[in-house]
Amino acid sequence: MAKMMFPLAAAVAAIAAPQIAHAAGDPVVGGKMFIQCRACHTINAGDRNGVGPNLNGVVGRKAGTRAGYSYSPAMTASGVAWTAVTLDAFLARPSAKVPGTKMAFAGVAAKKTRDDIIAYLASVPAPKR
Ligand code: HEC
Repeated sequence: MAKMMFPLAAAVAAIAAPQIAHAAGDPVVGGKMFIQCRACHTINAGDRNGVGPNLNGVVGRKAGTRAGYSYSPAMTASGVAWTAVTLDAFLARPSAKVPGTKMAFAGVAAKKTRDDIIAYLASVPAPKR
């Protein structure tokens, strides 16, 4: 019996691993989904702000603090820190998470797509120092 258990456990681990990766979001898929954000946002370090602020390094930064961008008073005063959790809520419905935001975007309905986009946001390299 013990001999049978080991290959079974290994097989279960092999099946479970990609699902854990899935739960954390797929940055490659997220990069494709980011096309719907590109109309207003740049992402690479050093890119200019557009209609919306440059999003390089946004995961882990305080909302409304990108230098040189003119935020809405609502965003500046929101006190939100961007984490996977707060970004998920904002991207689901920007106007619900930050009432008064000037991000004119309805939201991303699918949780999986939000996870993928957030994984992508976190994956883009920060500026070299
Ligand atoms: C129609 C233009 C537009 C689109 C499309 C758009 N955004 Fe925005 N976004 C904005 C604007 C404008 C702001 C600034 C909001 C404010 O100051 O209230 C913003 C702010 C943000 C912020 C807060 C940034 C900070 O520095 O605090 C995040 C995060 C964000 N957008 C992510 C996204 C993502 C991800 C997408 C795609 C799913 C997206 N946005 C699509 C215009 C847009």
